[in-house]
Amino acid sequence: MQNQLQDRIRLPALRERVTTAEAAAQWIQDGMTIGMSGFTRAGDAKVVPMALAKRASTEDLKITLMTGASLGSDVDKTLTEAGVLARRLPFQADPVLRAAINRGDVMFVDQHLSETVELLRTRQMAPIDIAVIEAVAITETGALIPTTSVGNSASFAILADKVIVEINLTQSLELEGLHDIFIPKHRPQREPMPLMSVQDRIGTSVIEIPPEKIVAIVITEKLDSASNILPADHETAAIAAHLVDFFKNEVTQGRLTKSLLPMQAGIGTIANAVMQGFINSPFEHLTMYSEVLQDSTFDLFDAGKLDFASGSSITLSPQKSREVFGNIGKYKDRLVLRPQEVSNHPELIRRLGIIAINTALEADIYGNVNSTHVMGTHMMNGIGGSGDFARNAYLSVFATKATAKNGLISSIVPMVSHVDHTEHDVDIIVTEVGLADLRGLAPRERAQVIINRCVAEPYRAMLNDYVERANQGGGQTPHVLQEAFSWHQKFRETGSMLPVNAQAEHKVPEKEEALAMV
Ligand code: COA
Repeated sequence: MQNQLQDRIRLPALRERVTTAEAAAQWIQDGMTIGMSGFTRAGDAKVVPMALAKRASTEDLKITLMTGASLGSDVDKTLTEAGVLARRLPFQADPVLRAAINRGDVMFVDQHLSETVELLRTRQMAPIDIAVIEAVAITETGALIPTTSVGNSASFAILADKVIVEINLTQSLELEGLHDIFIPKHRPQREPMPLMSVQDRIGTSVIEIPPEKIVAIVITEKLDSASNILPADHETAAIAAHLVDFFKNEVTQGRLTKSLLPMQAGIGTIANAVMQGFINSPFEHLTMYSEVLQDSTFDLFDAGKLDFASGSSITLSPQKSREVFGNIGKYKDRLVLRPQEVSNHPELIRRLGIIAINTALEADIYGNVNSTHVMGTHMMNGIGGSGDFARNAYLSVFATKATAKNGLISSIVPMVSHVDHTEHDVDIIVTEVGLADLRGLAPRERAQVIINRCVAEPYRAMLNDYVERANQGGGQTPHVLQEAFSWHQKFRETGSMLPVNAQAEHKVPEKEEALAMV
């Protein structure tokens, strides 16, 4: 342990700050704003938040919690159950927290992931009192070496009054050198970000902070939570196949080369499956400029398809995690982890010409996309980085299965019940039925292409009928306003968007059972 401490806390004066999670959590007081490391279940602070939750059983304790993105290790669940979370931002993906948000018990601020630290830096949000950051080690100068994510950790540590460090002994020292920490200067004198290609390193490999800010260090051995994505199925495989065909045609037309352009893939099962579809494709020397690097990134490396991947976190299934982190040296020179304001920076996304592939909960006939709100009101996870990428990408793709919940919900609806991405930011919609290329099309043309290419029966006929009647009313973007949300309304009332005559084939569950599914 003594040797390990020397390797892990290289500034001797800091070793006396090693303490228990309970003692470290005592620095956190009721009403504080806390910034914690963690991005898509990777590199999160794991033991101090648990000690905080325990304290809440004997005292009033409510905090605002900011992270990079979603957390693992049941941190959000435990803090929610303990009643510690007053406010939460900028992203989450935990069912217990999601329910508390939708009950109105936790105020959730759903933000573009590139923006949180800009707002903090310019004091447009309450400042961070304490940062709790997981690290591989602390260097001789007191700088932090992050673990499997960078997220907002660097700016949280720099902007906080005090820093608590969780040194995680399960995170390999070999991760040192994987990170590239660049902090932009203040506006309006800010210079352009000097990143010209995905593999450029523009910052330092560590988070530099004055060591006196580190008030407590806790040693942990808790593993990152594994990703919870599902394997590809025939629908996600079909979505991937449509996209591969689309890109083949782009190459044939001379708009792209076989290495395409740097790719971003969103979170979740669909995005991972879509990227896996590139393994058996004719494309080569691919690159990624993304946020979360999932299993598919490493499958693409192993298949010899991918040359380089830039992200803000690495979130893997248990098996992939053993393969990758047990042999990180194999991948390290082809990987970099950056702060999320760099991985998601609009300037860089526009400059690099990113192909952005994100997932929609639902899209409408004109191409507006809802990625966050189930039936228009209930938060799923948050917009995450999808808005950062969709608005600024070379090509903005949204994938979704054509239906959800065993066909009871159509993912293509007359009008989305909440808008995250407007029609102006959506170039391609793809479902297992087919792909709609919306580039250069006017709304009336978009509606025809989306309905004919992406929707299966009986919803296709229903949408054609809707559009026909909407067109009679005229307009640039025709609608029958009193019917625009009738599909959502119908789901709320009956537990299905299907017409009565189609419900028999679909084994429609009881209304309560159907509503409980969303
Ligand atoms: N109405 C209600 N529920 C729906 C739905 C709809 N229109 N469409 C999908 N769902 C449900 C699915 O049934 C599934 O439910 P389950 O978990 O109970 O099985 C769940 O939403 C996830 O859908 P799935 O089809 O498995 O896709 P996914 O795992 O790829 O996740 C999003 C899709 C949209 C939830 C996810 O990508 C997300 O949160 N995106 C927003 C953030 C983002 O895009 N970030 C990218 C950069 S970080």
